[in-house]
Amino acid sequence: MRARLVAGNWKMHGSRAANLALLDAIVAGVGGVECAVCVPFPYLAQVAERLQGTQVAWGAQNLSEYASGAHTGEVSAAMLAEFGCRYVLVGHSERRQIYGETDAQAAAKFAAAQGAGLKPIFCVGETLEERDAGRTEAVVARQLDAVLGKGRFGDAVLAYEPVWAIGTGRTATPEQARAVHGFLRQRVGAATRILYGGSVKPQNAAAIFAMPDVDGGLIGGASLVAQDFVAICAAAQTKG
Ligand code: PGA
Repeated sequence: MRARLVAGNWKMHGSRAANLALLDAIVAGVGGVECAVCVPFPYLAQVAERLQGTQVAWGAQNLSEYASGAHTGEVSAAMLAEFGCRYVLVGHSERRQIYGETDAQAAAKFAAAQGAGLKPIFCVGETLEERDAGRTEAVVARQLDAVLGKGRFGDAVLAYEPVWAIGTGRTATPEQARAVHGFLRQRVGAATRILYGGSVKPQNAAAIFAMPDVDGGLIGGASLVAQDFVAICAAAQTKG
């Protein structure tokens, strides 16, 4: 039985004061479900301090594929591990689309994270154009195979995030999510948690989480609103 996970992706949002209020409310409100927040690098220390000893885990949103050296502006897996990070997002579509991250680079980052004992949350997903062209499975398979071709998925987490659903308010239907999760499940096996991400809100979370092979969510906008994030965690918990 896979334990459900709800991970918040704060993206480039936050301030010391806002973070503290948000974390206080999450810690107070979250039930028994496993949850995590993935935060901007400068806030890792603050988040680690506030969440130490709570059931809320923390992580980063990116890392370097390199171990150390002349890589100005980059952050290594070992540095994140030093902050007590459990998770790190890898291959988010914003990294791929805005920063030109390739499949090979995402796979190298995945390996670097695992090498340092972090759990990557590896993101795959198709654009609307790709979906309309009937290429959804081919695209997510290509993205995932870059990792599987290099080694084991191990205890990493997979996240299906259709690009057209991210930050658009247009979430995948439960049936659309089920179909892609089922396809991904065949490739990663029964032990891997597969999260759905893309405009998950308190209003639609329960229906999505009720689908087979959906093991929780990766939450962007709604993870910045304590009440919404807590409600989404509750929706994940109530599933049988
Ligand atoms: P969203 O973002 O929930 O705001 O759509 C999800 C994500 O990008 O991880």
